[in-house]
Amino acid sequence: MPAHRHVVPPRADRGHLKLTESELRQWGHELGRSITPPLIVTLTGELGVGKTTLAQAICQGYGVRDEITSPTYALIHEYRAPKSAVFHIDLYRLDSPDQLTNIGWDEIVSSRSLILVEWPERAGPRLPDSHLPIDLDYVPDDPTRRILLAG
Ligand SMILES: Nc1ncnc2c1ncn2[C@@H]1O[C@H](COP(=O)(O)OP(=O)(O)O)[C@@H](O)[C@H]1O
Ligand SMILES: [Mg+2]
Repeated sequence: MPAHRHVVPPRADRGHLKLTESELRQWGHELGRSITPPLIVTLTGELGVGKTTLAQAICQGYGVRDEITSPTYALIHEYRAPKSAVFHIDLYRLDSPDQLTNIGWDEIVSSRSLILVEWPERAGPRLPDSHLPIDLDYVPDDPTRRILLAG
């Protein structure tokens, strides 16, 4: 999204970038520090690729002091940070976009917060067009690194 380009730390949008876990956390921390709300960040990629790990780092960089755990079962975890509230959402267990109404999706996406969404594809047409997309991929012969694409 060109509108969000200014918040993407350098390197990620110059082709494929292969990061170790600590490099990915550092990158996420830097991104979190540079974010001004409101912003929706989507995190796509297979199970276990590092979406929650990156979300934790973004939250920490943004100023969340609480422990950040995966919202796999609750679907939504809400945190406080100096700049705004933070919603960390995992839609993996969502059955259909209709169910978003019950979890307060409309209120959350219209709040002036930082919103991190794992499995955003499950939201279908209810995902706002204006978001910063981040995609993670496995590296075939290196289990310690992930390919990061952002912006
Ligand atoms: N380069 C890397 N980046 C992110 N996670 C990594 C990396 N290398 C190994 N891992 C491990 O992969 C796992 C990612 O898990 P998680 O963040 O919960 O994934 P997801 O939310 O995508 O299902 C963690 O156990 C983490 O330690
Ligand atoms: Mg996860």
